[in-house]
Amino acid sequence: MTSKALVLVGGGTRGTRFRPLSLDIPKVLFPVAGRPILSHALSAVATVPSIKEVLLIGFYDDSVFKDFIAESSKEFPQFTIKYLREYQALGTAGGLYHFRDAILKGNPSSFFVIHADVCSSFPLAEVISEFEKKEAKAVILGTRVEAEVANNFGCIVSDPVTKKVVHYVEKPETHISNLINGGVYLFDSSIFDVIRSARQAKVEAANENPLVKNDEVLRLEQDILVRLAETDGFYVYETRGFWRQIKTAGSAVPANALYLQKLFQTDIDAPGLAKASAHILPPVYIDPTASIDPTAKLGPNVSIGARSVIGPGVRIKESIVLEDTEVNQGACVLYSILARGVTIGRWARVEGSPIGLSEHSTVLIKNGVRVQGVSILAQNVAVGDEAHIQNSVVLPHKEINGHVENEIIM
Ligand code: GTP
Repeated sequence: MTSKALVLVGGGTRGTRFRPLSLDIPKVLFPVAGRPILSHALSAVATVPSIKEVLLIGFYDDSVFKDFIAESSKEFPQFTIKYLREYQALGTAGGLYHFRDAILKGNPSSFFVIHADVCSSFPLAEVISEFEKKEAKAVILGTRVEAEVANNFGCIVSDPVTKKVVHYVEKPETHISNLINGGVYLFDSSIFDVIRSARQAKVEAANENPLVKNDEVLRLEQDILVRLAETDGFYVYETRGFWRQIKTAGSAVPANALYLQKLFQTDIDAPGLAKASAHILPPVYIDPTASIDPTAKLGPNVSIGARSVIGPGVRIKESIVLEDTEVNQGACVLYSILARGVTIGRWARVEGSPIGLSEHSTVLIKNGVRVQGVSILAQNVAVGDEAHIQNSVVLPHKEINGHVENEIIM
């Protein structure tokens, strides 16, 4: 039975494209649709009744996940949650190998490995069913993307009938497939044989070549999946559900929209989801401690964090507003992220550009120039009355007056 799920959460030196939002909070704990990114993966795991243990594997300090684990353990009493810390970044497979005894404890017949930075409908039951039907050793979640962007991902070539994976290339130079790695795998314990042989190959390469480091670092994608594709028993389950990566800070905006839409469709009475009205265009999530003036108009796809104050006549659309922010009278916030403690002056305007939910880049071309799709104001930024910020990123504690367009303000 599938009794465990491992979630790769990375560490402080990874996820750099999520800056400046990851300067004060690890990327996987950043809230989208009112809850940490990691929580959405745990909610998916909770839909598999046989899973009794979740192992978060990363190289953040132990203290980073203490509160998250305490709160999530209350929310998901059906499984225990533990954090296993790598002594350094061991890569997406090095940590699995390092903690193999903990992973194999209790003899799980199979276990999930999930990339924490994926925003997805996480069809875990379907992956299990494919695994059982094919008597597989490994199943990878695959998703289709447009051919132009496929080469930015791990590309899968599979048998069109049996769905057996016959070839896997991480970020290929030429187009081989638009079916890509969705960052979710179900493995049986034989994956450790493959990791062991990759490790052995690395030791031998290091013996022969002093430029190859003999360390424990192994990458699931380049070192393991490529080998796995040469064996029997490796299949792909192709999802038609929503999927995108959360890499850049701006990608939190479409992820927020996708998770809000999912919640709205599956549980319209979920706590925090605001009811539709002349001033609320769903889906909108409002923390119960936030204060919203009745003349403010919010939505669609807006999340408002704890203790934030939204003033009269404010307009917010397609944006994430974190805790303790203040948006004053008549201000307008579109396609933007306001981090903790941001203040927006009266009649100010903070705006990014629309990003398609299925687009995989948050950098856009506007009037022939590359621009930041989403405007991002990092924590404690203050925007003056009537100021105008467009397609820009502002680093923490800055004060902005006047007009800023397509800039990074440090
Ligand atoms: P790029 O996509 O190349 O920018 O690298 P990335 O590290 O952001 O992403 P990658 O696709 O390699 O990682 C997938 C998931 O594994 C993410 O959730 C990362 O946080 C996590 N991850 C990456 N490297 C490590 C690692 O060394 N150890 C652990 N435990 N997790 C990792």
